[in-house]
Amino acid sequence: MQRAKNIGYDDDDLYDDDDYYEEEEAEPMSADDKEQMRISTISAREALGSAGSDISDAQIQEALWHYYYDVGKSVSYLKNKFAAPAPKEAQPKKEKATSRFDQAATAAVEKAPVPAGKHSDDQYSYSHSIYPAASSFPLPPVTIPSTPQDFFADVPWGNVPADRLGVITIDEPHFKGGLLGGSSKLAALAAKRRKEREDAQAASNASSHTDAAVAMLDKLTMKGNGDSPSTTEADRPSRIAKYTARKRSPSPKPEAPAEEVEAEPEAPKPAIEVEFPAQRASASMFASTLCGPSRPPQPAAVIEEFPVPYSYYKEYQNTKPFDGPSPDDIVRAAQANKGTGTGRRITPKKKPAAAKNGDKLAESVEKLAVDEPKVKSKNLNVIDELQKSGMKRMANFVVVGHVDHGKSTLMGRLLYDLKVIDQRSIDKLRKEAETIGKSSFALAWVMDETSEERSRGVTVDIATNYFETDKSRFTILDAPGHKDFIPNMISGSSQADFPVLVIDSSTNSFEAGLKGQTKEHILIARSMGMQHIIVAVNKMDTASWSKTRFDEIKKKMTAFLTEASFAEKRITFIPLAGLTGENVVTKISNPAADWYTGETLLEALERIELPARQLEKPLRLSVADVFRGDMRSPLSISGRIDAGTLQVGDVILALPANQTATIKSIEVQDAPVDWAVAGQIPTLHLTDIDPVHLRQGDIVCAPKAPVKLVRAFTSKLLAFEHVLPMPVEVFRSTLNSPGGIRTLSAKLNKFTGEITKKKPRIVKPGEVARVVIQLEQELPIEEGMRVVVRERGRTVGAGLMENVA
Ligand code: GTP
Ligand code: MG
Repeated sequence: MQRAKNIGYDDDDLYDDDDYYEEEEAEPMSADDKEQMRISTISAREALGSAGSDISDAQIQEALWHYYYDVGKSVSYLKNKFAAPAPKEAQPKKEKATSRFDQAATAAVEKAPVPAGKHSDDQYSYSHSIYPAASSFPLPPVTIPSTPQDFFADVPWGNVPADRLGVITIDEPHFKGGLLGGSSKLAALAAKRRKEREDAQAASNASSHTDAAVAMLDKLTMKGNGDSPSTTEADRPSRIAKYTARKRSPSPKPEAPAEEVEAEPEAPKPAIEVEFPAQRASASMFASTLCGPSRPPQPAAVIEEFPVPYSYYKEYQNTKPFDGPSPDDIVRAAQANKGTGTGRRITPKKKPAAAKNGDKLAESVEKLAVDEPKVKSKNLNVIDELQKSGMKRMANFVVVGHVDHGKSTLMGRLLYDLKVIDQRSIDKLRKEAETIGKSSFALAWVMDETSEERSRGVTVDIATNYFETDKSRFTILDAPGHKDFIPNMISGSSQADFPVLVIDSSTNSFEAGLKGQTKEHILIARSMGMQHIIVAVNKMDTASWSKTRFDEIKKKMTAFLTEASFAEKRITFIPLAGLTGENVVTKISNPAADWYTGETLLEALERIELPARQLEKPLRLSVADVFRGDMRSPLSISGRIDAGTLQVGDVILALPANQTATIKSIEVQDAPVDWAVAGQIPTLHLTDIDPVHLRQGDIVCAPKAPVKLVRAFTSKLLAFEHVLPMPVEVFRSTLNSPGGIRTLSAKLNKFTGEITKKKPRIVKPGEVARVVIQLEQELPIEEGMRVVVRERGRTVGAGLMENVA
């Protein structure tokens, strides 16, 4: 959804993505929006029933606007926010308000109502399973209060006078106190700003304090779960490898677009300021040794109020009991260097000043580490090896589309039907999903592995999974649909050969998505140079497999995709239902869909033409993930090889750090290999490099033919929005820098590339122009590389680098 703000470039609010403020500064709604808002408001009122009596139209509409007219989510949010706690006897009933997704899903399989899911307003109710085997898990009838207030309603100390009430936010899985789906960082910013405004109106208004407290707590939570953009790489959770799916470890950083991040320091301070003095002690030698040098030492804090008891005693004052390696460290270090193959090399960062017995041993350990044998290269001719290996076709696809349109569920279904995921794992997921009232998400949980993703019912980071057919080996990159996680989606897209666009065919959902991330994801995929696209017209069960609805979506999408420069013959439409599996691996047998005789999703995946692999060119690998502390190596990276080949023992150059490393070992799809080629997404275990030198978005290349770092370059730009000289954010994969369109040199013919107009003043959507892009920070970009140009959180153009300016 795009709403231009009527403000100057120097206005702070230019970078403010706070919906609360946008609402006031937005341009008038279009006629379409108005009509949709009117219809959705009526539906929301109906769904709210008596719970909506105290909720104004404006509040309903604010929620609908945020959720792209998703009535289910808006109602769920409004109920949580405004509805009074339900009386005890009105607690969750199984037959109450079932979401339309769940109704359809269940009707298709069991013909029984399924409550809950994130759209349900009855979040704690238990459901029948959506799978046939579900009956093997009969669940006892459980009554759980619908709100925390309910839970404590009958305790004596609950009777506190209103003026003495405090507010404790509970990070319960279903509702975090803000609009669902927004990043907590933005929620905190929104709360701060809202509070400031309320302060101005009524300084003594108690609710403003509550908001500030909520904002504070929200911030604290962010630190705890690693969501905060300030979270360091070392703080992030380590790699999860359940089933076969993989989430990256330097993870989620649900990066808000950079401009939002920039705005934060200027945000007004809330009235309630909670200061947290820097009381973090520096890491002990033991911890530093274990964690490696990736994290700079923290300054030791002076804690006056609560000194460690023994620090009072004189004899301890000038000694540092934990300085130097502990006896355990020394033994472990020695073991690790005896070549057991499983130990990690331990090399204390600096020598402790005082020479003790243990230090001497540590010194000798250091020497051992230095003498570690270098990785030997087999000097293979990798292209010959590739030909000899008779390797199957390798395809990587990214699953994109608007939030909740069913991407993860579709992938879960694909893997389940192909028996990549066994029945037991699915049963386990189903049981867990039912336990938190999200039974309809069980299949999505095959891909969504983190607790945040599961409790909120949204994908946050790219999930990777693999499967193989007789002809091909596939890598799935399941992208998040929510607009807050676009940088993660860009990262996934930069590794893919083609996109599978998932569209929810149900009434209003398709239309809402087209204005939101359905549109943006298509533009990003095209910006990355992808030419073929599969459009999975999903949830056709909710549209009763209507040919008319399918044709309508096909017509609108074809018009949109061709405008975004996808050739019509390279677009494949498939009507399917991820939840129930029709046309995913097996053809639909429902007579209502007799009209469709085309391919299943799997057939289309096997047929689609892949881009030519640039095997002969110098190595180029875009780093999508960085893993630290793996048993095999202190630093591992993964990412797609865009060009060239590599093998064990190769020395590579990491940019922009300009540091070399040696490849110690390689894995492709979790199996160890000696070499990898363009088109594959290997994990490289590296040595001879300090982990600080590699980050997500970096480029790894051949040291003899490095990519140059550039600060300004000429690019062909396909405009998706009006483009003029203006500040922009330039993404090369996930590596990005603020910058600007410096000059519009010429407009070009879209097909021939000939100049049609010199020095245009503006480039319109759909036009191609030659522009000069200026960057604030140097980025490794070379001729032929693709860049995504974004402005204020919107993708405005796709660039193809021509030369250094
Ligand atoms: P994000 O990753 O957060 O963007 O969402 P997503 O696109 O991965 O959607 P997800 O797979 O999480 O599914 C969202 C909801 O749609 C869940 O409740 C699913 O059960 C439901 N759903 C998915 N596919 C179908 C389908 O084919 N039919 C019906 N009726 N519901 C579906
Ligand atoms: Mg998902």
